[in-house]
Amino acid sequence: MRAMRIHRYGAASVIREEEVPRPAPGRGDVLIQVAATSFNPSDVGLRRGLLRTVLPIDLPYTVGGDVAGTIVELGDDVHTLAVGDRVVGRVDNGGAAAEYVTAAADTLVAAPAAIPIAHAAAIPIAGLTAWQAVFEHAGVASGQRVLVNGAGGGVGGFAVQLAKHAGAHVIATASSRSTDIVRQLGADETVDYTAMPVRDALDGPVDIILNLVDLGGQSASALMSLVRPGGIVVSATGAPTVPGGSPVAAVSFVARNDTGHLAALVKLIDTGAARVDIASTRPLVELAAVHLDAEAGRIRGKTILVP
Ligand SMILES: NC(=O)c1ccc[n+]([C@@H]2O[C@H](COP(=O)([O-])OP(=O)(O)OC[C@H]3O[C@@H](n4cnc5c(N)ncnc54)[C@H](OP(=O)(O)O)[C@@H]3O)[C@@H](O)[C@H]2O)c1
Repeated sequence: MRAMRIHRYGAASVIREEEVPRPAPGRGDVLIQVAATSFNPSDVGLRRGLLRTVLPIDLPYTVGGDVAGTIVELGDDVHTLAVGDRVVGRVDNGGAAAEYVTAAADTLVAAPAAIPIAHAAAIPIAGLTAWQAVFEHAGVASGQRVLVNGAGGGVGGFAVQLAKHAGAHVIATASSRSTDIVRQLGADETVDYTAMPVRDALDGPVDIILNLVDLGGQSASALMSLVRPGGIVVSATGAPTVPGGSPVAAVSFVARNDTGHLAALVKLIDTGAARVDIASTRPLVELAAVHLDAEAGRIRGKTILVP
């Protein structure tokens, strides 16, 4: 089968299309024919070797942490899934940037029926991160003012929808290329972060900030000053430093693989309560170009890659 692999850490050019044996599903695993994987910023960190301590990988490494596809073979002791099932999941050892990937059956859920199977590849990493930010770490409640910083990204698209679903008043930072879609996803207000300081656009403090932008220390502290005393900043990109005695809490988190949360996201999509916004669909063989685009800031929303 064809697979997008790296043999060493480095620039995007280390990503190569190779012919490799199709993997065999082990005990408890299934073999999935990949309909699509999706790009995540962590793929760049992995490829450059920057995440070695948090997300160690073995080289050569087949890229791809999100998968949507169809089961074509079962390993031993798989009783909950069948050949032909359409599934979606987060594959924590990578491998989805290929024609086939194996995954533990208990990490997969049924793909949404309401959208094309390939589009479901946009859900796992971004959707789980947004779900856990909104419901677990921030505990967004009806009537709260929530600022989603970085709403134009893959996580942000889900975060806006989930915070809105929880009944919040959602304020979203987005540049002009993302403003319309972020509004369509449910943001009540948008602030073009390239045109003005976010502070100038707010008519009062917010209860919660969901921070999805990699900020330097100073910008992170500026963000905290937008939150009312007793409020919280939840960051997917590392915690802002909290001055001693600060009345605002700050947490950072790494999203975990949770099939309960993934199934809940699928349900929201199938009932029409949430949607998957695919910004771009690219052939898998263009993966290195997608990494270059991401590093140059040319990627917004979710990009799916189709083998
Ligand atoms: N902790 C975890 O477990 C976890 C999991 C997944 C992702 N992450 C991290 O969370 C972050 C977001 O992930 P993602 O997949 O959503 O990334 P992404 O899709 O690459 O986000 C790109 C978007 O960021 C927006 N942006 C860039 N600079 C901005 C700024 N100064 N203010 C506001 N928006 C800005 C841009 O919005 P416009 O289009 O509006 O310009 C762009 O569309 C990444 O740093 C990622 O590594 C963490």
